[in-house]
Amino acid sequence: LAIDLIGAPTDIGAGSRGASMGPEALRVAGIQAALQGRGLNVSDLGNLAGPANPWLPPVNGYRHLSEVTAWNRTVHEAMFQSLSSGHLPILLGGDHCLGIGSISAVARHCRQSGKKLRVLWLDAHADFNTNALTPTGNVHGMPVAVLCGHGPAELTGIGGVVPAMAPSAIRQIGIRSVDEGEKRFVRQAGLEVFDMRYIDEMGMRHTMQTALAGMDDNTHLHVSFDVDFLDASIAPGVATAIKGGPTYREAQLCMEMIADTGRMGSLDVMELNPALDVRNGTAELALDLIESLFGKSTLMRQ
Ligand code: ARG
Ligand code: MN
Ligand code: MN
Ligand code: MN
Repeated sequence: LAIDLIGAPTDIGAGSRGASMGPEALRVAGIQAALQGRGLNVSDLGNLAGPANPWLPPVNGYRHLSEVTAWNRTVHEAMFQSLSSGHLPILLGGDHCLGIGSISAVARHCRQSGKKLRVLWLDAHADFNTNALTPTGNVHGMPVAVLCGHGPAELTGIGGVVPAMAPSAIRQIGIRSVDEGEKRFVRQAGLEVFDMRYIDEMGMRHTMQTALAGMDDNTHLHVSFDVDFLDASIAPGVATAIKGGPTYREAQLCMEMIADTGRMGSLDVMELNPALDVRNGTAELALDLIESLFGKSTLMRQ
């Protein structure tokens, strides 16, 4: 299996600067060598280029819409090209607004190859805001809504088909921070959300069994891993850390159960912000979990 690492060094959709350093933090943690050590063939395609962050206030409910659009177009083309080559792309973010370009590319790849799409959205946040609902104007709070067709045409249209995906293709896991208007909109859209209360009541094992159910040989599984999915106490290197998230052990089980399906065809690692971190510990933790996503386990699996 050929893996492509694609760096997208920007914080254009975030509310704090520093996610632009996420790709380098993951490289410094040793992502290429760690995955190669698992017998995988890993190419680092380097970093994509895009506009600088002008750090301006929202216009019409969006911050930096034209720059967000430029970055997402570039991410879309790079992800689509990797998928078209039959590779497994790992997008090294960058803030989560880039999920628009990434997942629209995966959806396009699925349409073209006749595959079913399943997206696992691992996050503290639903990222389902619109310009009317957002309290911040930060587009990293909007990618799921955009992918489901709610947003400005320059973003919803990036994959060529609107909406890029149906709400029924997505499962959100670890959610614990949703804005007031956003809550109503999540319900209205019928998103399948496994929030922290669900995980506390049912356990991570049942949660993942349910979220992964219904896939078959023809399903392409995309994992969008916002590092703020993890409990704030173990992953301080993110802009929007929220307490009450999955523990190290719950996160490991989550990743191992995804690996066990054997269907992950693409991955985003988003929102890692080494400017807020302690000794690159959050990048090292993210890498530890990524290794589990690619099948690392304590004992040999039968
Ligand atoms: N809901 C908040 C907002 O719209 C926070 C979004 C955080 N998203 C993220 N990808 N970290 O601004
Ligand atoms: Mn997110
Ligand atoms: Mn988040
Ligand atoms: Mn594929």
